[in-house]
Amino acid sequence: MTVTFPSELIERLRAAQSVAILTGAGVSAESGMPTFRDAQTGLWARYDPAELASPAAFRANPVLVWQWYAYRRALAEAAAPNPGHYALAELEQRIPDTTLITQNVDGLHHRAGSRNVVELHGNLTRYRCSDDGAPVEVTIVEKDAPPRCPRCGGLIRPDVVWFGELLPQHAWNMALAATRRCSLFLCIGTSGVVRPAADLPLIAQADGAYTVEINLAPGALAGQLNLHLYGPSGTLLPALVVAAFGERSSIG
Ligand code: OAD
Repeated sequence: MTVTFPSELIERLRAAQSVAILTGAGVSAESGMPTFRDAQTGLWARYDPAELASPAAFRANPVLVWQWYAYRRALAEAAAPNPGHYALAELEQRIPDTTLITQNVDGLHHRAGSRNVVELHGNLTRYRCSDDGAPVEVTIVEKDAPPRCPRCGGLIRPDVVWFGELLPQHAWNMALAATRRCSLFLCIGTSGVVRPAADLPLIAQADGAYTVEINLAPGALAGQLNLHLYGPSGTLLPALVVAAFGERSSIG
């Protein structure tokens, strides 16, 4: 598929000293990771993810919530980064001050080679105690029910951010700093409905950055940024990097 991008985007990308990128579940969709607002399939079809991702859900049914995250962790481990993830890692090679802010907890950006990644919503492969909040090392991941914290006996939970919880302060500070200093902000594969992550492109825009949405379909940010490109990120992102910087082999 040939994609043509507006010349203003290509010029701004080539000239950018600092780029901030926000990604959401859509960037991992082509790796087989279900997004949050698509209908779930199989065993989980009757649950709304938003109702599983909360402290109240964990208190009410820790086994169910644990099993849902065990399922998502198994999917992430079996998944491979897609061309969209690799294109973002390539962009970081081209523009060293690139900060990849992700709402995803699947670790696929790291596996694709991105280094400056800010995980706003935590990571599926880390755990902490639901009572004292301290990190817990889990070597063998029990799939059926949450294990107990070796220190205090509390239930162990995944180290991800749930609805109603604050973002990790350091990650948020890093995300905000990158958003404020960038000249170009790319917002990719997110419905733009979960705050405060969804505020970042608007903050960048208010600070004068050129803001671009790349999404499969219009979401909450439609019409609010400088440019909206609709299509699969696994196709658009590699095409964008090639349009701005040429084929990897030709520029070494
Ligand atoms: P959503 O499921 O809300 O949105 C996914 C977005 O990706 C939608 O806008 C889709 O159109 C788009 N999309 C799907 N396939 C795509 C593709 N191949 N290429 C490009 N875009 C594609 O996921 P998020 O916006 O990430 O938070 O959700 C934000 C947060 O809400 C999540 O981090 C999670 C969730 O509840 C917590 O768990 C706290």
